[in-house]
Amino acid sequence: MSKSAEAVANIVREKAGDAPVRIGLILGSGLGHIADEVDGVAIDYADLPGFPHAGVSGHKAKLVVGDLEGVRVAVFGGRSHYYESGKGDAMRHPLEVLQALGADTMVATNAAGSLHNDMPTGSIMSLSDHINFSGLNPLIGEPTDRRFVPMMDCYDPGIRAAMADAAKAEGVDMHSGVYAWYSGPSFETVAEIKAIKILGADAVGMSTVPEVILARFLGLKAAAISCITNMAAGMSDEAISHEHTKAMAPLGAAKLEKVLRRWLRDQSS
Ligand code: HPA
Repeated sequence: MSKSAEAVANIVREKAGDAPVRIGLILGSGLGHIADEVDGVAIDYADLPGFPHAGVSGHKAKLVVGDLEGVRVAVFGGRSHYYESGKGDAMRHPLEVLQALGADTMVATNAAGSLHNDMPTGSIMSLSDHINFSGLNPLIGEPTDRRFVPMMDCYDPGIRAAMADAAKAEGVDMHSGVYAWYSGPSFETVAEIKAIKILGADAVGMSTVPEVILARFLGLKAAAISCITNMAAGMSDEAISHEHTKAMAPLGAAKLEKVLRRWLRDQSS
């Protein structure tokens, strides 16, 4: 039985100080660099009861709490994916801890495949919406009526607009589009990619959607940005593999970092 979110938040406060956290950042595969830039304290997930243990290579299982661009943040160096455990709600407890630390916002980042030739590898995309193509839901089994979470505008329009302004100010070309969640861990077939393209998806990946559902359930504002690490299956001759994802993530990561830093700076001023 894991400790309550408040008890784990107390462990974090003992190590990293009492000041309330404002924003939580979840880092995707190969996007861990930004955690190293936070002026703060890194805590192993292993020291935080109820946090996911297993990591995917390319993720660092640490929570870093401290200052980034004048804003107190909690950076989740790794996430638990549905495909690791078969549990869609593995990030529920970490997000409850984030909220107990005082945050009102969760920003997720991820590596994703692109469905558009004009959004090539190395691009970044702000999520405007998602398609839960997995059919799974982290709130299955939640016994209260709070489970009926409205998902309109689940990617907070105010944050999206502010991030778009930050991208513009930094001279970063940030796309905006719909992310489709496949459970993974196998990559999609060519037919699956054709299907979600017809349905209106712009990018595809194996994460983020459960966290956004959980964030909205908890009443946290949510936003997410994809780093395009490959063209989706059948879109190009490019190889698709986890190794390729990790190798290509840094291309978009530099842009992502510029946008996030500027966005944080804009709110601290
Ligand atoms: N599909 C699913 N997940 C991904 C992809 C992809 O093409 N690229 C990076 N993560």
